[in-house]
Amino acid sequence: MTTSEKQFELDKIAQEIKDFKGLDIAKNCTNSVPGEGNPDAQIMFIGEAPGFNEDLQGRPFVGQAGKLLEKTLKEVLNLNRSDVYITNIVKFRPPDNRDPFPNEIEACKKWLDAQISIIQPKIIATLGRYSMGKFIPDVTISRTHGQSRFVTFNNQKFIVFPMYHPAAALRAGAVMEQFILDFNKLKSLISVSSNSTPQTTPQKPELTQPTLF
Ligand code: URA
Repeated sequence: MTTSEKQFELDKIAQEIKDFKGLDIAKNCTNSVPGEGNPDAQIMFIGEAPGFNEDLQGRPFVGQAGKLLEKTLKEVLNLNRSDVYITNIVKFRPPDNRDPFPNEIEACKKWLDAQISIIQPKIIATLGRYSMGKFIPDVTISRTHGQSRFVTFNNQKFIVFPMYHPAAALRAGAVMEQFILDFNKLKSLISVSSNSTPQTTPQKPELTQPTLF
């Protein structure tokens, strides 16, 4: 797909999300937050769900956590947010920033899956345990963050790189340290992965031990 064909498809998904009224959080939000960024992004960041500021603006990661993400992107990777694609597992704000419910994650799954298929990023960086759990179930973030894995997802092979959520980094100095260290690992991963092409394999999801560090 060309960049403009990808953008067209992403816009269609955003419109579908906007029109969706099948969840209470979709009926009650100010704005849906489909995601945004470069349709040809090599890296896709996936967070949890929009918060107060994201709900107001209809854009992902525009509050304090987003500022940290943006600053680290620039300082460590020398990338702007428009160079990557940023989205969430859930596309509508849960009230009082509660954790998303399983039915909300399930209802939003088709849109995130379609976004991944359209963008075809080389690296999916998950922010927090909800997005990590989509690709790497039954692990804890404290033991798994910063370790890249190949994950076959929808017959497509991606590098998944689990990271702490930037909001968790803002709450605890020790997590902040890990967050920055992981960003530096991501930097090495980008240079390694830019020399390799993930292959398409007609298999069920599979996890492979990290081989890149
Ligand atoms: N936290 C998230 O997980 N996503 C956002 O878009 C903002 C805060």
